[in-house]
Amino acid sequence: MKEISFRTKIVIGENSLDSLKKIEKETVFIVTDPFIEQSGMLAEVTERLAYKENIYSIFSDIVPDPPIETVAAGVKALQEIKPSILIAIGGGSAIDAAKAIKEFALKFSPQQKDIKFIAIPTTSGTGTEVTSFSVITDNAKQVKYPLVADGLLPDEAILDTILVKSVPPAVTADTGIDVLTHAIEAYVSKEANDFSDAFAEKAVQLIFEYLPRAYKDGKDLEAREKVHHASTLAGLAFNMVGLGINHSIAHVCGAQFHIPHGRMNALLLPAVIEYNADFRSFSQNEYSAAAKRYARLAKILGYPSGNIRVAVKSLLQQINQLAKELHMPVNLRACGVNKEKFTTVKQHISEAALNDACTKTNPRIPSVEDIERIVEKII
Ligand SMILES: NC(=O)c1ccc[n+]([C@@H]2O[C@H](COP(=O)([O-])OP(=O)(O)OC[C@H]3O[C@@H](n4cnc5c(N)ncnc54)[C@H](O)[C@@H]3O)[C@@H](O)[C@H]2O)c1
Ligand SMILES: [Fe+2]
Repeated sequence: MKEISFRTKIVIGENSLDSLKKIEKETVFIVTDPFIEQSGMLAEVTERLAYKENIYSIFSDIVPDPPIETVAAGVKALQEIKPSILIAIGGGSAIDAAKAIKEFALKFSPQQKDIKFIAIPTTSGTGTEVTSFSVITDNAKQVKYPLVADGLLPDEAILDTILVKSVPPAVTADTGIDVLTHAIEAYVSKEANDFSDAFAEKAVQLIFEYLPRAYKDGKDLEAREKVHHASTLAGLAFNMVGLGINHSIAHVCGAQFHIPHGRMNALLLPAVIEYNADFRSFSQNEYSAAAKRYARLAKILGYPSGNIRVAVKSLLQQINQLAKELHMPVNLRACGVNKEKFTTVKQHISEAALNDACTKTNPRIPSVEDIERIVEKII
């Protein structure tokens, strides 16, 4: 038995930020990063809160891959304000940090009443505006922890395309591939079902069609909107059925080598698909469940899919082609990782990835050695 519910209200379309104008006489705590504050995007929020007897306070110290210390500082700031509403505006880092801030603040101050959480993504990538995940980094241990709890699910997500217009091409590429990875991992997840498939299929279609356009011309608002929607759709899919070892490895490698999350996923995606498809363990006309799922996706996308093998190969070709169009680096060395350093940490990476929360829904159960072989392919 599985219960499916969608708690987050999603606001889309032109001027969707105007839904903030409904807020009246509330105490609002806003979490964001310095760029969002300086770029004028934060003003899009505060202007809509003004003149309605709202009191607001801004915590803008979020850095990419938010560390535990920043979350702790945010908890302290929130406890002083005692807000009724928390608005997180920014990329996955700002929204994830805000989720953790809320979670810990409620845990440590029982007198604090529940706080309404509004997420406003300014990148199209993590889908965190509709998920009960938050990824926090422990810099001392150089590891990222995915927190998973119902309380982390935002109450409202505002998808206003004007906020993503300014995302630079490299971040558009990284975050767009993150969306693709979410959708593909959800599609082959052990727990995938017809409902998650519907969201994942649509997200993959939108990414292949519109991500190259959004990358080439950030002002192409149609492409921006489609990629923004794809991000949330993929979030809805994986929130229901989980992710897989692409993310498990990316969490550890990304923290270890300071590589942006989506770029790390992009490096791993072909190797993880080959591992999960597992053609070597099956004889002529028998295939793993994951191979069949990848093949189905290729067929839906209209890629050559005469048989399962051909279909998986065409999906891989399309992913490689997309990565090329987005000028993604081809391996860890191209991201500045030193081979000697890699050799000293690869076992630690593999062991930590095996224990990551995302491993349990991967379609194939890996061993430490399996993960080590995957990471060896991307150096
Ligand atoms: N919670 C989840 O379900 C989930 C899923 C995947 C990834 N993550 C986590 O999310 C984080 C990554 O988030 P991200 O990829 O959105 O990147 P990010 O939030 O770290 O932002 C990347 C950079 O882009 C800038 N930026 C944000 N919006 C911009 C805009 N509109 N214009 C120009 N620049 C802009 C930011 O200031 C930052 O410098 C990682 O910590 C990752 O582990 C979480
Ligand atoms: Fe991700």
